[in-house]
Amino acid sequence: MKILVTGAGGQLARDVVADSTAAGHEVVGLVRADFDIAVDDATAVLEGVRPDVVVNGAAYTAVDAAESDADTAALVNDAGVRRLARACAATGAHLVHVSTDYVFDGTLHRPYVESDPTNPQSVYGRTKLAGEVAATEELGDDVTIVRTSWVCGEHGGNMVGLVLRLAADPDRSLAFVDDQIGHPTFTTDLAVVLRHLSVERPGGVFHLTNRRAVSWYEFVREILVAGGHDPNRVRPIATAELDPPRPAPRPANSVLANARWDGDGRPPLRDFAEPLAELVEKLS
Ligand SMILES: NC(=O)c1ccc[n+]([C@@H]2O[C@H](COP(=O)([O-])OP(=O)(O)OC[C@H]3O[C@@H](n4cnc5c(N)ncnc54)[C@H](OP(=O)(O)O)[C@@H]3O)[C@@H](O)[C@H]2O)c1
Repeated sequence: MKILVTGAGGQLARDVVADSTAAGHEVVGLVRADFDIAVDDATAVLEGVRPDVVVNGAAYTAVDAAESDADTAALVNDAGVRRLARACAATGAHLVHVSTDYVFDGTLHRPYVESDPTNPQSVYGRTKLAGEVAATEELGDDVTIVRTSWVCGEHGGNMVGLVLRLAADPDRSLAFVDDQIGHPTFTTDLAVVLRHLSVERPGGVFHLTNRRAVSWYEFVREILVAGGHDPNRVRPIATAELDPPRPAPRPANSVLANARWDGDGRPPLRDFAEPLAELVEKLS
Protein backbone atom coordinates (compact mmCIF):
# COMPACT_ATOMS: atom_id res chain seq x y z
CA MET A 1 0.00 0.00 0.00
CA LYS A 2 1.22 3.48 -0.82
CA ILE A 3 0.35 6.17 1.72
CA LEU A 4 0.74 9.92 1.30
CA VAL A 5 0.92 11.77 4.64
CA THR A 6 0.22 15.50 4.52
CA GLY A 7 1.43 17.97 7.15
CA ALA A 8 4.30 15.54 7.70
CA GLY A 9 6.15 17.94 10.02
CA GLY A 10 3.35 17.76 12.61
CA GLN A 11 3.49 15.75 15.83
CA LEU A 12 0.92 13.15 14.76
CA ALA A 13 1.99 12.96 11.12
CA ARG A 14 5.63 12.33 12.02
CA ASP A 15 4.64 9.25 13.99
CA VAL A 16 2.24 8.13 11.24
CA VAL A 17 5.11 8.24 8.74
CA ALA A 18 7.40 6.33 11.13
CA ASP A 19 4.81 3.68 12.05
CA SER A 20 3.54 2.98 8.52
CA THR A 21 7.08 2.88 7.16
CA ALA A 22 8.12 0.41 9.90
CA ALA A 23 5.07 -1.71 9.03
CA GLY A 24 6.40 -2.08 5.49
CA HIS A 25 4.17 0.31 3.57
CA GLU A 26 5.48 2.71 0.97
CA VAL A 27 5.10 6.11 2.64
CA VAL A 28 5.53 9.57 1.17
CA GLY A 29 5.44 12.27 3.85
CA LEU A 30 5.08 15.81 2.54
CA VAL A 31 5.72 18.75 4.86
CA ARG A 32 3.88 21.99 4.33
CA ALA A 33 6.71 23.49 2.27
CA ASP A 34 6.34 20.61 -0.21
CA PHE A 35 2.54 20.42 -0.22
CA ASP A 36 0.42 23.23 1.18
CA ILE A 37 -3.13 21.86 1.15
CA ALA A 38 -4.58 25.39 1.16
CA VAL A 39 -2.60 26.59 -1.85
CA ASP A 40 -1.06 23.90 -4.01
CA ASP A 41 -2.73 21.95 -6.82
CA ALA A 42 -3.67 18.86 -4.80
CA THR A 43 -4.69 16.83 -7.82
CA ALA A 44 -1.32 17.43 -9.46
CA VAL A 45 0.45 16.36 -6.24
CA LEU A 46 -1.64 13.19 -5.94
CA GLU A 47 -1.20 12.39 -9.63
CA GLY A 48 2.53 12.59 -9.06
CA VAL A 49 2.53 10.33 -5.97
CA ARG A 50 -0.40 8.00 -6.90
CA PRO A 51 -1.18 6.98 -3.29
CA ASP A 52 -3.81 4.39 -2.36
CA VAL A 53 -4.51 6.35 0.82
CA VAL A 54 -3.93 9.91 1.96
CA VAL A 55 -3.61 10.45 5.71
CA ASN A 56 -4.27 14.12 6.37
CA GLY A 57 -2.08 15.35 9.20
CA ALA A 58 -2.20 18.94 7.96
CA ALA A 59 -4.29 21.31 10.05
CA TYR A 60 -4.40 24.78 11.53
CA THR A 61 -4.16 23.74 15.19
CA ALA A 62 -3.57 27.05 17.02
CA VAL A 63 -6.89 26.95 18.87
CA ASP A 64 -6.64 30.37 20.54
CA ALA A 65 -5.05 32.17 17.58
CA ALA A 66 -7.90 30.91 15.39
CA GLU A 67 -10.36 33.12 17.28
CA SER A 68 -8.76 36.20 15.69
CA ASP A 69 -7.55 34.47 12.51
CA ALA A 70 -10.69 32.67 11.36
CA ASP A 71 -9.98 33.12 7.65
CA THR A 72 -6.63 31.32 7.83
CA ALA A 73 -8.06 28.54 10.00
CA ALA A 74 -10.89 28.03 7.49
CA LEU A 75 -8.50 28.15 4.54
CA VAL A 76 -6.65 25.11 5.91
CA ASN A 77 -9.21 23.17 7.97
CA ASP A 78 -12.21 23.67 5.68
CA ALA A 79 -11.25 24.77 2.14
CA GLY A 80 -7.90 22.94 2.22
CA VAL A 81 -9.55 19.70 3.28
CA ARG A 82 -12.14 20.08 0.50
CA ARG A 83 -9.37 20.59 -2.08
CA LEU A 84 -7.57 17.52 -0.76
CA ALA A 85 -10.77 15.46 -0.76
CA ARG A 86 -11.55 16.50 -4.36
CA ALA A 87 -8.06 15.42 -5.38
CA CYS A 88 -8.58 12.06 -3.65
CA ALA A 89 -11.86 11.64 -5.54
CA ALA A 90 -10.17 12.55 -8.84
CA THR A 91 -7.32 10.08 -8.34
CA GLY A 92 -9.15 7.24 -6.57
CA ALA A 93 -7.38 7.58 -3.21
CA HIS A 94 -9.08 6.94 0.14
CA LEU A 95 -8.76 9.80 2.64
CA VAL A 96 -8.10 9.17 6.33
CA HIS A 97 -8.82 12.54 7.91
CA VAL A 98 -8.11 13.58 11.51
CA SER A 99 -10.60 15.68 13.43
CA THR A 100 -11.25 16.72 17.00
CA ASP A 101 -13.34 16.64 20.18
CA TYR A 102 -13.84 20.41 19.65
CA VAL A 103 -16.68 19.64 17.21
CA PHE A 104 -18.77 19.09 20.37
CA ASP A 105 -19.88 21.71 22.91
CA GLY A 106 -18.89 19.54 25.87
CA THR A 107 -22.20 19.87 27.73
CA LEU A 108 -23.21 16.20 27.55
CA HIS A 109 -23.04 14.25 30.82
CA ARG A 110 -21.68 11.07 29.25
CA PRO A 111 -18.93 10.22 26.75
CA TYR A 112 -19.64 11.38 23.21
CA VAL A 113 -20.34 8.69 20.61
CA GLU A 114 -19.86 9.20 16.90
CA SER A 115 -23.55 9.85 16.21
CA ASP A 116 -23.99 12.57 18.85
CA PRO A 117 -24.98 15.98 17.48
CA THR A 118 -22.06 18.35 16.92
CA ASN A 119 -22.08 21.94 18.19
CA PRO A 120 -18.60 23.51 18.06
CA GLN A 121 -18.05 26.56 20.27
CA SER A 122 -14.73 27.82 18.88
CA VAL A 123 -13.50 28.98 15.47
CA TYR A 124 -11.10 26.02 15.42
CA GLY A 125 -13.94 23.58 16.19
CA ARG A 126 -16.21 25.11 13.55
CA THR A 127 -13.52 24.96 10.86
CA LYS A 128 -12.66 21.35 11.76
CA LEU A 129 -16.34 20.37 11.55
CA ALA A 130 -16.62 22.17 8.21
CA GLY A 131 -13.66 20.08 7.02
CA GLU A 132 -15.44 16.87 8.06
CA VAL A 133 -18.52 17.94 6.13
CA ALA A 134 -16.52 18.99 3.07
CA ALA A 135 -14.57 15.73 2.94
CA THR A 136 -17.76 13.70 3.29
CA GLU A 137 -19.51 15.73 0.56
CA GLU A 138 -16.62 15.12 -1.82
CA LEU A 139 -15.86 11.49 -0.98
CA GLY A 140 -18.87 9.83 0.69
CA ASP A 141 -17.69 6.46 2.03
CA ASP A 142 -14.19 7.04 0.65
CA VAL A 143 -13.24 9.19 3.64
CA THR A 144 -12.64 7.80 7.12
CA ILE A 145 -12.78 10.55 9.75
CA VAL A 146 -10.99 10.02 13.07
CA ARG A 147 -11.91 12.36 15.90
CA THR A 148 -9.35 12.35 18.68
CA SER A 149 -8.48 14.42 21.76
CA TRP A 150 -5.62 15.77 23.90
CA VAL A 151 -2.91 14.59 21.50
CA CYS A 152 0.63 14.11 22.84
CA GLY A 153 3.72 12.94 20.98
CA GLU A 154 7.46 13.15 20.95
CA HIS A 155 7.62 15.74 18.17
CA GLY A 156 5.19 18.45 19.17
CA GLY A 157 4.05 21.00 21.68
CA ASN A 158 1.76 19.23 24.15
CA MET A 159 0.94 18.90 27.83
CA VAL A 160 3.55 16.23 28.59
CA GLY A 161 6.47 18.26 27.26
CA LEU A 162 5.13 21.43 28.89
CA VAL A 163 4.72 19.89 32.35
CA LEU A 164 8.14 18.22 32.27
CA ARG A 165 9.73 21.54 31.29
CA LEU A 166 7.90 23.47 34.02
CA ALA A 167 8.57 20.81 36.65
CA ALA A 168 12.31 21.00 36.00
CA ASP A 169 12.24 24.36 37.83
CA PRO A 170 11.70 23.45 41.53
CA ASP A 171 10.42 26.96 42.33
CA ARG A 172 7.76 26.88 39.65
CA SER A 173 4.19 26.63 40.96
CA LEU A 174 1.75 24.70 38.81
CA ALA A 175 -2.03 25.16 38.52
CA PHE A 176 -4.23 23.36 35.98
CA VAL A 177 -7.96 23.19 35.47
CA ASP A 178 -9.99 20.47 37.13
CA ASP A 179 -13.28 21.14 35.33
CA GLN A 180 -12.37 20.01 31.80
CA ILE A 181 -12.17 16.26 31.29
CA GLY A 182 -10.96 14.21 28.36
CA HIS A 183 -8.98 11.24 27.10
CA PRO A 184 -5.24 11.90 26.63
CA THR A 185 -4.18 10.31 23.35
CA PHE A 186 -0.65 9.43 22.28
CA THR A 187 0.57 9.71 18.71
CA THR A 188 2.36 6.35 18.85
CA ASP A 189 -0.96 4.57 19.53
CA LEU A 190 -3.02 6.75 17.20
CA ALA A 191 -0.57 6.14 14.35
CA VAL A 192 -1.17 2.39 14.63
CA VAL A 193 -4.95 2.68 14.42
CA LEU A 194 -4.67 5.16 11.54
CA ARG A 195 -2.58 2.54 9.74
CA HIS A 196 -5.20 -0.15 10.34
CA LEU A 197 -7.90 2.18 9.03
CA SER A 198 -5.73 2.99 6.00
CA VAL A 199 -5.70 -0.73 5.16
CA GLU A 200 -9.37 -1.35 5.99
CA ARG A 201 -10.82 1.94 4.60
CA PRO A 202 -14.21 1.55 6.28
CA GLY A 203 -15.47 5.12 5.73
CA GLY A 204 -17.49 7.20 8.19
CA VAL A 205 -16.56 8.59 11.59
CA PHE A 206 -14.56 6.98 14.39
CA HIS A 207 -13.76 8.33 17.84
CA LEU A 208 -10.26 7.11 18.68
CA THR A 209 -8.44 7.98 21.89
CA ASN A 210 -6.40 6.26 24.54
CA ARG A 211 -8.50 4.95 27.42
CA ARG A 212 -9.47 6.61 30.75
CA ALA A 213 -10.93 10.04 31.36
CA VAL A 214 -9.14 12.59 33.55
CA SER A 215 -9.22 16.32 34.11
CA TRP A 216 -6.19 18.34 32.98
CA TYR A 217 -5.24 18.64 36.67
CA GLU A 218 -5.38 14.85 37.10
CA PHE A 219 -3.43 14.36 33.87
CA VAL A 220 -0.72 16.73 35.10
CA ARG A 221 -0.47 14.77 38.37
CA GLU A 222 0.12 11.58 36.35
CA ILE A 223 2.73 13.31 34.17
CA LEU A 224 4.53 14.52 37.31
CA VAL A 225 4.57 11.02 38.78
CA ALA A 226 5.76 9.50 35.50
CA GLY A 227 8.56 12.10 35.40
CA GLY A 228 9.65 11.35 38.97
CA HIS A 229 8.21 14.55 40.45
CA ASP A 230 5.91 15.17 43.42
CA PRO A 231 2.30 15.17 42.13
CA ASN A 232 1.29 17.57 44.90
CA ARG A 233 3.22 20.34 43.16
CA VAL A 234 0.13 21.04 41.04
CA ARG A 235 -3.03 22.59 42.43
CA PRO A 236 -6.47 22.39 40.85
CA ILE A 237 -8.22 25.52 39.59
CA ALA A 238 -11.48 26.22 37.75
CA THR A 239 -11.51 27.37 34.13
CA ALA A 240 -13.11 30.61 35.37
CA GLU A 241 -9.95 31.30 37.41
CA LEU A 242 -7.62 31.31 34.38
CA ASP A 243 -5.97 34.73 34.22
CA PRO A 244 -6.07 35.90 31.51
CA PRO A 245 -8.95 33.77 30.21
CA ARG A 246 -8.11 31.89 27.03
CA PRO A 247 -9.63 33.31 23.85
CA ALA A 248 -11.17 30.02 22.67
CA PRO A 249 -13.72 28.15 24.80
CA ARG A 250 -12.84 24.52 25.52
CA PRO A 251 -15.42 21.72 25.89
CA ALA A 252 -15.89 20.88 29.60
CA ASN A 253 -16.53 17.28 28.57
CA SER A 254 -14.15 16.15 25.80
CA VAL A 255 -14.54 12.45 26.51
CA LEU A 256 -14.91 10.53 23.25
CA ALA A 257 -16.23 6.97 23.57
CA ASN A 258 -14.48 4.74 21.03
CA ALA A 259 -17.90 3.25 20.43
CA ARG A 260 -17.62 2.18 16.80
CA TRP A 261 -14.06 0.84 17.08
CA ASP A 262 -14.73 -1.14 20.25
CA GLY A 263 -18.21 -2.21 19.09
CA ASP A 264 -16.76 -3.79 15.95
CA GLY A 265 -14.56 -5.99 18.18
CA ARG A 266 -11.23 -4.39 17.36
CA PRO A 267 -8.60 -4.44 20.12
CA PRO A 268 -9.20 -1.39 22.36
CA LEU A 269 -6.55 1.30 22.62
CA ARG A 270 -4.39 1.21 25.74
CA ASP A 271 -4.94 3.00 29.04
CA PHE A 272 -3.05 6.27 28.58
CA ALA A 273 -0.67 5.52 31.47
CA GLU A 274 1.33 3.12 29.26
CA PRO A 275 2.11 5.43 26.33
CA LEU A 276 2.56 8.29 28.83
CA ALA A 277 5.35 6.35 30.55
CA GLU A 278 6.94 5.59 27.16
CA LEU A 279 6.82 9.25 26.11
CA VAL A 280 8.25 10.52 29.39
CA GLU A 281 11.10 8.04 28.97
CA LYS A 282 11.79 9.37 25.45
CA LEU A 283 11.67 13.00 26.57
CA SER A 284 13.84 12.50 29.67
N1 LIG B 1 -3.04 18.47 19.27
C1 LIG B 1 -4.20 18.08 19.83
O1 LIG B 1 -4.36 18.08 21.06
C2 LIG B 1 -5.32 17.59 18.95
C3 LIG B 1 -6.53 17.21 19.55
C4 LIG B 1 -7.56 16.74 18.73
C5 LIG B 1 -7.39 16.65 17.37
N2 LIG B 1 -6.22 17.05 16.81
C6 LIG B 1 -6.07 16.96 15.36
O2 LIG B 1 -5.00 16.08 15.10
C7 LIG B 1 -4.38 16.42 13.86
C8 LIG B 1 -2.88 16.49 14.04
O3 LIG B 1 -2.58 17.48 15.00
P1 LIG B 1 -1.12 17.69 15.57
O4 LIG B 1 -1.23 17.75 17.04
O5 LIG B 1 -0.18 16.75 14.92
O6 LIG B 1 -0.88 19.18 15.03
P2 LIG B 1 0.47 19.90 14.59
O7 LIG B 1 1.64 19.35 15.32
O8 LIG B 1 0.17 21.37 14.68
O9 LIG B 1 0.62 19.48 13.07
C9 LIG B 1 -0.12 20.08 12.04
C10 LIG B 1 0.80 20.18 10.85
O10 LIG B 1 0.04 20.70 9.74
C11 LIG B 1 0.88 21.60 9.07
N3 LIG B 1 0.07 22.53 8.29
C12 LIG B 1 -0.59 23.63 8.68
N4 LIG B 1 -1.19 24.21 7.64
C13 LIG B 1 -0.89 23.45 6.55
C14 LIG B 1 -1.21 23.54 5.18
N5 LIG B 1 -1.94 24.56 4.70
N6 LIG B 1 -0.75 22.60 4.34
C15 LIG B 1 0.03 21.58 4.80
N7 LIG B 1 0.38 21.45 6.08
C16 LIG B 1 -0.09 22.38 6.96
C17 LIG B 1 1.67 22.29 10.15
O11 LIG B 1 2.80 22.90 9.60
P3 LIG B 1 3.33 24.29 10.21
O12 LIG B 1 3.77 23.97 11.60
O13 LIG B 1 4.42 24.66 9.28
O14 LIG B 1 2.16 25.23 10.18
C18 LIG B 1 1.99 21.11 11.06
O15 LIG B 1 3.18 20.48 10.65
C19 LIG B 1 -5.03 17.73 13.42
O16 LIG B 1 -6.02 17.45 12.46
C20 LIG B 1 -5.69 18.26 14.67
O17 LIG B 1 -6.80 19.07 14.38
C21 LIG B 1 -5.17 17.51 17.57
